Amino acid sequence: MEQIVYLNGEYLPLSAAKVSVLDRGFLFGDGVYEVIPYYQGRFLAFKAHIERLQASLQNIRLEVCYSVEEWHTLLSPLLDAQRNQYIYLQITRGVAPKRDHLFPTPTVATVFALSNDIPPFAEREQGIKALLIEDNRWLRCNIKATALLANVLLKQQAADHACAEAILFKNGYVTEGSASNVFAVVNGVLMTAPKTEAILAGITRDIVLQLANTHHIAVSESPISLAQLKTASEIWVTSSTREIVPIVELDGQPVANGKAGAVWQHINTLYQQYKLSAS
Ligand code: PDD
Repeated sequence: MEQIVYLNGEYLPLSAAKVSVLDRGFLFGDGVYEVIPYYQGRFLAFKAHIERLQASLQNIRLEVCYSVEEWHTLLSPLLDAQRNQYIYLQITRGVAPKRDHLFPTPTVATVFALSNDIPPFAEREQGIKALLIEDNRWLRCNIKATALLANVLLKQQAADHACAEAILFKNGYVTEGSASNVFAVVNGVLMTAPKTEAILAGITRDIVLQLANTHHIAVSESPISLAQLKTASEIWVTSSTREIVPIVELDGQPVANGKAGAVWQHINTLYQQYKLSAS
């Protein structure tokens, strides 16, 4: 049976969901998105994801006035409670009569959503390799914008070096991954970059910080210098679909002993419990 997706008020088979070539998402990458995980019949941190979406919309000056409950009602029919899935939700500034950089008036947003399975991530326990690359993205990385060309090129550059993620740095400090946030254990303290316009405020990042605080693991939301990163006993990346993934090799060098560390084991166990109990 064909997958059902949501497009502008309708639930349609995927092959029937069509968007105009004049859609500003297509022409300008003029849109924002969310990726929301769903485990055993429940969303994880749904409200936090919708609040970040609302902040992204406000930042790009696009008015779409659905409440958290309305989004829940709209997205729920796309999900299968028997599976671990995520929602991909994208909102663009819609279709204009002709290509023009300026906002169209009136603006009718294009709203599109689908679900996909979250496949088990076999590499998590053994960890992944990462490549350090200079962060050459724009200055508003707090907006979850669909315009991801820089991220795409950075992740592909990492993949070309047999690495599963790019860890990005700017002015000597780590910002985030190409599609993740970065944590490092430095002198026994779990560090991650503070929330600024240089990074996306990851929801998984927030959950990790909350779990660490609750379980008395020392944390510091402060910039990680490249020198600190190179002496870190553990490095992880976090995202809604991959959860918490140890980096065991950075730029061809093993991180500590080249295996997932003890702090990761602890937090990952807590996260696996949390994701099935929270909503
Ligand atoms: N990306 N930073 C960037 C640049 C990201 O693209 C993501 C996630 C994160 C982590 O955010 P969260 O924990 O809320 O998923 C940080 C999603 C998963 C994606 O683009 O597919």
